[in-house]
Amino acid sequence: MKRTLVKHALSSPSPMDEIKVQGWVRTRRDAKAFSFVELNDGSTLKNIQIIIDATLSDYEKIVDANTGAAVSITGKLVASQGKNQSWEIVAETLEVVGKSDSSYPLQKKGHSQEYLREIAHLRPRSNLFGSVFRVRSRLAQAVHRFFDEQDFIYVHTPIITASDCEGAGELFRVTTMDQNAKSESDALIDYSNDFFGKSTYLTVSGQLPAEVFACALSNVYTFGPTFRAENSNTSRHASEFWMIEPEMAFCDLQGDMDLAESFVKYLIQDIVNTCPEEMNLFNKFVDKGLQERLKFVLDRPFQRVSYTDAVDILLQSGETFEYPVAYGANLQSEHERFLTEKHFKCPTTVYNYPKEIKPFYMRANDDGKTVAAMDVLVPGIGEIVGGSQREEREDQLQAHLDHHKLNPEDYWWYMDLRKYGSVPHSGFGLGFERMLMFITGVSNIRDVIPFARTPGSAEF
Ligand code: 4AD
Ligand code: MG
Repeated sequence: MKRTLVKHALSSPSPMDEIKVQGWVRTRRDAKAFSFVELNDGSTLKNIQIIIDATLSDYEKIVDANTGAAVSITGKLVASQGKNQSWEIVAETLEVVGKSDSSYPLQKKGHSQEYLREIAHLRPRSNLFGSVFRVRSRLAQAVHRFFDEQDFIYVHTPIITASDCEGAGELFRVTTMDQNAKSESDALIDYSNDFFGKSTYLTVSGQLPAEVFACALSNVYTFGPTFRAENSNTSRHASEFWMIEPEMAFCDLQGDMDLAESFVKYLIQDIVNTCPEEMNLFNKFVDKGLQERLKFVLDRPFQRVSYTDAVDILLQSGETFEYPVAYGANLQSEHERFLTEKHFKCPTTVYNYPKEIKPFYMRANDDGKTVAAMDVLVPGIGEIVGGSQREEREDQLQAHLDHHKLNPEDYWWYMDLRKYGSVPHSGFGLGFERMLMFITGVSNIRDVIPFARTPGSAEF
């Protein structure tokens, strides 16, 4: 008999004489004449209740159907007497596929998120993490749907690269050179002998290759893993995270902000529409204001404010911040959160940042001081999107490379785009995990990644 997922069994339009379900036992209760098993297979948050009569020939196997055990059950799907679910299964056969015993770490409910991180190999079987990872999957599909509906072309940009797109020096080196052959100082190593004949790294961003494709296919996006050896142990930074980076030819900063804001809204709306059970769970157990906040975000336009005005608002706020506010300095997450949570009380797009604090590729504004950059900030998290219009003028870009002390030889192909058929173009990066945190209310990035990589931690 073919297996039915619990999700489909529970939404069956009518009773069934024969059904087979397979999954893991959440709980078992033994009464005199029968046992109840709550079965979960991860296809949905809900369990299905199985009634196993003591007169069944398989009933002797019930002793092994402990919490955590994998079981396979055939029987009849019948209307449930209980008030919480529509259908239950009256078992005819029971097979214990994989036993479990009292040492199973997910025995009881209500473990802390810290503890569950230590058993990241088992936590997907909990209600919370099952929900997080179902929503993560759905969100990834929604990303592709959003772009496909607007005729964006999906480009697979490389993971191994020779350039540091963001210029922040947070690179993981990729090498096959024997560690013993390495001398003490990295500067003395001749990487021309290395596998690729030059220094290579895990990419921090797919933007530069995405620009190449935008300058040929018009509207493109890349969606892949990115890596940053940033030694900051915060709840919002991971060393390996996924980023979605659209890039549009013939598009300026306005168009870029429009796309970013509509993208964020689209993703929220999709999950609210398609994952109501998971959203209710998050609202109940993770963040009580979640659904109200997301509805608020969907119902209103985002605020837009220039960096200069944002700094003025912060300076005049009368608020004491841990990091001082000053024109020319990066906005810290406490500043970003003040703007979205206390001042505007909604997502806020900050644009036109000082050129000194932004990477080389951003387009210089006419004021000589700022670049056409934009960040989308959201309550509870801060920056969720970072993007810009790109410098499309050859002489200007050359000057930016010099200013940032970057070697033009490394960027010859990037410069060529400015030489041959250069066009205004713009794009941004949305942090996939930060978006997931915003949608689920989960406050630590480690809890929205299957197996998080953070400084000092690469278990599993
Ligand atoms: O602002 P960032 O550094 O922008 C770029 O990388 C550009 N090249 C994107 C582009 O224009 N195509 O990163 C973009 C987003 C941030 O807004 C944040 O959401 C996320 O990526 N992000 C991180 N997420 C998790 N852990 C980290 N360490 C992150 N660093 C950035
Ligand atoms: Mg940024």
